[in-house]
Amino acid sequence: MKRALYHLHVLVLLLSIFIVHSTIHAKDDNDVTSIHHLIQPREPADDFTITATTTTTTTTTTSTATHASNSTKTNATQTHTPWVPLKPATPLHYNQSVVNRTATPTIAYQLNCKVDDPFCIKVENGIKQAISEFSKVVDIKTNINIQVSYYSFCTTGCSNTSYGFGIPSSQFILPFNEGPDLNHVYPQALAKQYVHSFNTSSVWSASDVTIELNHDAYMQSVDYEKASSLGWNGTGVPPTGRFWFVNDTSYNNTSIEKDQVDFRYVFLHELLHGLGFLSSWAAYFWSSSSPFRQLVENVVDDDNLKMITPGMYWFVDDNYGPTYITGFQSTMIFDKYLVSYDSSSDQPPMNLSQLGFSMQDFCRQDTDSFILNFVSSFRVSSQAVGATNLWNAMIEPGTLFFNFSAPAVSNSTYLTDAYLNQTYHNMTLLTGAAILDTQLEQFDQDTNRPGAAISHVDDIYSSTVDFLMAKGFISGKSLEDITQEMYQNIPVIYYNVTSHNNSIITKTYASPIGPGILRILDSMGYSTALTNTSYVAMGVQTAKFRSPCDDINDNGPVQSSTTEPSVASGDGGLVLSPNYCFSGIVLALMLALLHLD
Ligand SMILES: *[C@@H]1O[C@H](CO)[C@@H](O)[C@H](O)[C@H]1NC(C)=O
Ligand SMILES: *[C@@H]1O[C@H](CO)[C@@H](O)[C@H](O)[C@H]1NC(C)=O
Ligand SMILES: *[C@@H]1O[C@H](CO)[C@@H](O)[C@H](O)[C@H]1NC(C)=O
Ligand SMILES: *[C@@H]1O[C@H](CO)[C@@H](O)[C@H](O)[C@H]1NC(C)=O
Ligand SMILES: *[C@@H]1O[C@H](CO)[C@@H](O)[C@H](O)[C@H]1NC(C)=O
Ligand SMILES: *[C@@H]1O[C@H](CO)[C@@H](O)[C@H](O)[C@H]1NC(C)=O
Ligand SMILES: *[C@@H]1O[C@H](CO)[C@@H](O)[C@H](O)[C@H]1NC(C)=O
Ligand SMILES: *[C@@H]1O[C@H](CO)[C@@H](O)[C@H](O)[C@H]1NC(C)=O
Ligand SMILES: *[C@@H]1O[C@H](CO)[C@@H](O)[C@H](O)[C@H]1NC(C)=O
Ligand SMILES: *[C@@H]1O[C@H](CO)[C@@H](O)[C@H](O)[C@H]1NC(C)=O
Ligand SMILES: *[C@@H]1O[C@H](CO)[C@@H](O)[C@H](O)[C@H]1NC(C)=O
Ligand SMILES: *[C@@H]1O[C@H](CO)[C@@H](O)[C@H](O)[C@H]1NC(C)=O
Repeated sequence: MKRALYHLHVLVLLLSIFIVHSTIHAKDDNDVTSIHHLIQPREPADDFTITATTTTTTTTTTSTATHASNSTKTNATQTHTPWVPLKPATPLHYNQSVVNRTATPTIAYQLNCKVDDPFCIKVENGIKQAISEFSKVVDIKTNINIQVSYYSFCTTGCSNTSYGFGIPSSQFILPFNEGPDLNHVYPQALAKQYVHSFNTSSVWSASDVTIELNHDAYMQSVDYEKASSLGWNGTGVPPTGRFWFVNDTSYNNTSIEKDQVDFRYVFLHELLHGLGFLSSWAAYFWSSSSPFRQLVENVVDDDNLKMITPGMYWFVDDNYGPTYITGFQSTMIFDKYLVSYDSSSDQPPMNLSQLGFSMQDFCRQDTDSFILNFVSSFRVSSQAVGATNLWNAMIEPGTLFFNFSAPAVSNSTYLTDAYLNQTYHNMTLLTGAAILDTQLEQFDQDTNRPGAAISHVDDIYSSTVDFLMAKGFISGKSLEDITQEMYQNIPVIYYNVTSHNNSIITKTYASPIGPGILRILDSMGYSTALTNTSYVAMGVQTAKFRSPCDDINDNGPVQSSTTEPSVASGDGGLVLSPNYCFSGIVLALMLALLHLD
């Protein structure tokens, strides 16, 4: 097995941490017009709530996004939170251990739930239901593990408005001859579906997806009065918090409140991020909490930091401290399909995959890689033009698109269903000033990525079947109700599945994972209900991209400074360094950077 590793050109990339939260940065209308002049670190975000409106007619989509004002929120809190604190819940491990169980034949989860048992049971039920909903439409063939933690983020760094995050536990560049794309980085869950020869390999990190959910977000919105009226006696986790649990028999099966979000919805959203719904492009030099910015901001003119780039190869010299950057890493498979286009400018559309390759041709060694030298030489490179254009486009909303690849099989429902065929060519991703300056970041030796950057679809999808991956969560409705309501606005989608005995069964597609979101997963390479490829790689493989920087980056101090044993490859000097140590170190770092509240 070990020998085979020599062929694996794995570049373990950044684990892109990704904090998804209930909030976006609400801004005054005036801000919109002055975005160009005024991009300041923002105040802690106001809650962004999409309040589900009660639809009285089915002819129009009436769900609207509203920015709940902070005063409304304050009132609610003051009205309902008793001044005298009630008896706190006894912290108790869910059966004192990590629960390791399977949700479906191919998807297992390990849950570490750090609140009381009755509550953890609800959490686990929600996880199971969400995973099972996912498995109805995405075909996972090689077993994957989802590592889930449910706890109070305040134990390491408060971030009460964050619901949680989902990230790939590890990521890979697929080896030669295995998999459809050899130049972009795959989340482990997807890499596993293609690279069968490594099924039992120690290359894989023990979990494929890491999801952390924040109990503080739950507690933040508990309505204590209502909790008492529901029979809460002051011990244990009160009901009526942010997350709503379906069929919660412990509290009389209460229906969802206006400010509650279905737990399964949150979990499913994070799960998709963890399966690779995220980008490696971000404003690394600009974002206010970025360590890169902190190192250069007083030296380099601010305007010169307005660039969007892929994640970098970087290291800290133990003796001196300053950060060295040698070059840019490959971008993620999600990024392969991104196109930046600002119809109001005269710039032609920019293909981010191509731009990523050109970025990889820029690198610096030795003292030239010292961050200030790196930035100043990068500023005058041809690549910086693209990075700056990207900034100028992305500061505006509606300038980034996910262009779907052609379905990999000809009987894909996206081709055979007239509505889908006509509707889904691309989707608009969320851009705008707020995503360029993220407050949440996660950095370590191998990893560097400002938090929630390009990883959501535009807000316009909040009122469509593709609501799941918009940044704001719709509150006040169960996942079933939201889903059902949205699907009323589009024609019924039928699709065929081939059953065990080879008979064809026709089903109706009505998943909370909307057809557009599923189409993104399709494009990335997942086999789905609407494009069932069974992970047989089709079509012409892309040639392996080679850059003169490969040696510099791969032999750079990034590896030599790591204490992890590395498996060197036979040719090309590429190095395999799985980041097993990720969960402990990275999360500690990440959480240390959460200074939201
Ligand atoms: C939020 O609160 C601040 C200070 O309490 C106030 O200045 C601001 O106008 C409020 N915003 C809204 C939208 O109510
Ligand atoms: C919040 O409180 C103010 C003053 O107490 C009141 O005028 C306002 O109506 C309240 N808002 C809500 C949404 O209850
Ligand atoms: C807790 O552990 C006991 C005994 O080990 C087991 O019977 C029970 O099912 C567990 N409960 C949960 C919720 O995992
Ligand atoms: C979960 O349990 C299965 C067997 O029940 C075991 O093979 C697997 O290694 C366990 N996973 C973890 C992460 O503990
Ligand atoms: C955040 O939540 C924790 C625990 O629920 C609480 O102690 C803390 O006061 C909260 N912080 C804010 C700013 O609300
Ligand atoms: C629970 O539901 C039952 C039947 O609907 C009702 O009689 C009871 O009052 C409810 N309890 C609470 C605490 O709401
Ligand atoms: C409160 O309710 C919990 C069950 O939810 C029970 O275990 C506990 O004994 C009750 N405490 C009191 C003081 O009644
Ligand atoms: C909730 O309970 C109802 C009635 O028992 C049942 O029909 C429904 O399937 C349950 N929903 C979930 C998600 O378990
Ligand atoms: C799908 O769209 C293409 C053109 O984009 C068209 O030629 C084809 O007939 C369409 N197929 C269906 C089933 O509508
Ligand atoms: C997205 O698709 C629509 C047609 O569905 C097309 O008009 C538009 O030009 C496309 N946008 C981009 C950036 O490709
Ligand atoms: C499903 O299969 C049947 C029988 O082969 C066929 O007539 C029908 O068009 C198919 N429907 C879809 C949505 O592909
Ligand atoms: C789609 O075509 C493949 C062969 O190309 C076949 O194996 C599969 O069963 C077909 N799927 C459906 C739903 O017809």
